[in-house]
Amino acid sequence: MIFPEDFVWGAATASYQIEGAVKEDGRGQSIWDTFSHTPGNVADGDTGDVACDHYHRYRDDVGLMRELGLAAYRFSVAWPRIQPDGEGSINPRGLAFYDRLVDELLTAEISPYVTLYHWDLPQALEERGGWAHRDTAYRFADYAQAVHDRLGDRVADWTTLNEPWVSAFLGYGNGVHAPGRRDPGDALRSAHHLLLGHGLAARALRSGGAGSIMFVVNSAPVLTPAQVNDPSAVPSEADAAAVHRIHALLTRQFLDPVVYGTYPEEVLAAAARNGGTGHIQDGDLALINAPIDLVGVNYYNPCVVEAGPGLPADAAWPGSEDVRFATADAPTTAMGWPIVPDGLSRLLVRLSKDYPQVGLMVTENGAAFDDVVENGRVHDDDRVAYLDGHLREVHRAIEAGADLRGYLVWSLLDNFEWAEGYRRRFGIVHVDYATQSRTPKDSALWYRDVIGRNGL
Ligand code: NOJ
Repeated sequence: MIFPEDFVWGAATASYQIEGAVKEDGRGQSIWDTFSHTPGNVADGDTGDVACDHYHRYRDDVGLMRELGLAAYRFSVAWPRIQPDGEGSINPRGLAFYDRLVDELLTAEISPYVTLYHWDLPQALEERGGWAHRDTAYRFADYAQAVHDRLGDRVADWTTLNEPWVSAFLGYGNGVHAPGRRDPGDALRSAHHLLLGHGLAARALRSGGAGSIMFVVNSAPVLTPAQVNDPSAVPSEADAAAVHRIHALLTRQFLDPVVYGTYPEEVLAAAARNGGTGHIQDGDLALINAPIDLVGVNYYNPCVVEAGPGLPADAAWPGSEDVRFATADAPTTAMGWPIVPDGLSRLLVRLSKDYPQVGLMVTENGAAFDDVVENGRVHDDDRVAYLDGHLREVHRAIEAGADLRGYLVWSLLDNFEWAEGYRRRFGIVHVDYATQSRTPKDSALWYRDVIGRNGL
């Protein structure tokens, strides 16, 4: 099974999850520093203070990437390193880190894929209202411009936001992520301001000459329990309505405005019931609809729902009244997430039909398992099986006509898994947090071979 000749193979990480060095070189505080240092928010009281110490070990980490043969590395820039207070003057020492990282990658012939926002909002901006406050969108565009001004001569591939659904609805809706606020209206307003920030930043990147602009979503096929194992199962009318509604809230809420400049009616209805639609100002949708090149898809598992008459909305899902979130009949990872590889091909084929104007890239896919190091090896057969199964579905989607440009594993390294802390390991490289030693797992060696032969 061979992939297209120019198919991009790589791996991904994010700043707060791997860098550590949270007080170094003038970095300001982010909402994740505040949140993780507040007892009860993160498993085992873990924080990103040290994480994988990548800030100091980036050269060795790029060396590992080279040994694995990665063609692309997707990482994020920590906004509070660049603007400690989220606005105003630029901290040259913060920007210098990414400058060194980019140069190191280019020397290793690895293409840098830069994400501008992977959840570490400067705390100072949160204190002024965070993403629920419109001004944050404009501050984001200024920051994006500053990073592009410095790195744009060497970085072609830019992503504005990573998973804005998670930022808005886990950050401001159910409070499981930073900043830990719980208000459905704020969550919906945050989603809109994130989109506005994306549109403004995309415009700035484009006029600065960016090679390619990507928007990354946590999308998933929304399925009834029966459809998980039988794609041809026909849902009842009520179940089909639940599926339609959740697809609108999860995926169309973000991709319809970005690609078409429109909101699904389900989103407008949810906003109308949670403080109104006044935050959506005239002209916003036209700004959000700035041309992009690629949609990045982070896929882990399907979203399984059915009709549940009379149910209140889930805290993370304003607008989901009458919907029951169900479990899939499938094996699970250490996160408890069902393993449904063909969910990925179903998703990619659907997105390529719904949004044919843009190319697609799998910007994250991977799994946490309870890995152990034995005699210097990690025999993570479960992860190899997970990745192999999903790559077969990527190939299937390409055969079915999806314009899919590449695949990035989540993650290069074990790292700080947000509210789950360090106990969940997603890396293809094991990290011993006591010594910071890195051990490529069997999955890393397997992936190196996949890349080497451009196929399975
Ligand atoms: C998506 C997020 O972008 C990433 O930060 C996270 O670690 C993975 N999902 C796994 O949960």
